[in-house]
Amino acid sequence: MTRNGSIAIDGPSASGKSSLAKALARELGWIHADTGALYRTVALSLQRNRLTEAQATDVCRHLENRKVAYSVQDNTTRVLLDGEDVTDLLRSEETGRIASRISQIPCVREFLFHLQRDMGKKGGVVMDGRDIGSVILPDATLKIFLTADALTRARRRFAEMQQKGVPGDLDAIRRDLEDRDRQDSSRSLAPLTQAQGALLLDNTHMTIEDAVKWILQKLPN
Ligand code: DC
Repeated sequence: MTRNGSIAIDGPSASGKSSLAKALARELGWIHADTGALYRTVALSLQRNRLTEAQATDVCRHLENRKVAYSVQDNTTRVLLDGEDVTDLLRSEETGRIASRISQIPCVREFLFHLQRDMGKKGGVVMDGRDIGSVILPDATLKIFLTADALTRARRRFAEMQQKGVPGDLDAIRRDLEDRDRQDSSRSLAPLTQAQGALLLDNTHMTIEDAVKWILQKLPN
C-alpha cells in the first residue's frame, strides 16, 4: 500500500466527505485534513468581530492580523485560530453558510492555500473539500468526487442535527444544501467541480464501509 500518498476527496455539502475521509485515514494510518473547517474558522472569526456582512476589502484586512493553523491530533486535524482550538465551534448551519459565501473572496482562498498545500505535501493525508483535486493537490495519488442525491444528503444532515439535539426541518435543510451547492459550483474561483482524473463515487446507496472498500481497491500499491 502506498505509504506516503495523498487522497483528495471533493464533493457537495453533506455528501459524506468528512466521515469517509476520517474512516479512510483510520484504515490507512494516515491523517484526515478537513479543509471546510478552515473556511468555517474564517467565518467564525468574522462572526466574532461582527464582520459577516463586510465587504471583501474589510475581510482581507481582518485576515492580515489573524493566524489560522492546523494541529494534528490522533489521525485528524484540529484548527487553531490565533492559537485557540476552535474545532468544536464550527459546525453550525450559519457558520457553514457564511463560509460558503466568503470562500468566493480571493484573499480568503489565498490566505488558506499554503496551509492546505503544506499539509498535503507531507503525504499520508486524506484531504476533503471542494477544490482539493483541482487546485490544492492536483497530483494526489487518488482523487475522488463524492456525490449523493440531495434528499439523501439532507436526511443525513438532519439525522446528524437530531443526534446533537439541534432542531431542524428536512425541507429547509434540503433547500439550504442546494443553495450552497449552487454557490460553491458557480463561483469563478476554484469552483466545486470533478477534477481532471477524479473518480466519481455516488454513495447514495452505500455505507461508509462500502465506500472505504471501493476507494482502497483503487489506491495504487
Ligand atoms: O465542507 P464544509 O461544509 O465544512 O465547507 C464549508 C464551506 O467552505 C463550503 O460551502 C465552501 C467552502 N470550502 C471551499 O470553498 N473550499 C474547500 N476546499 C472547502 C470548503
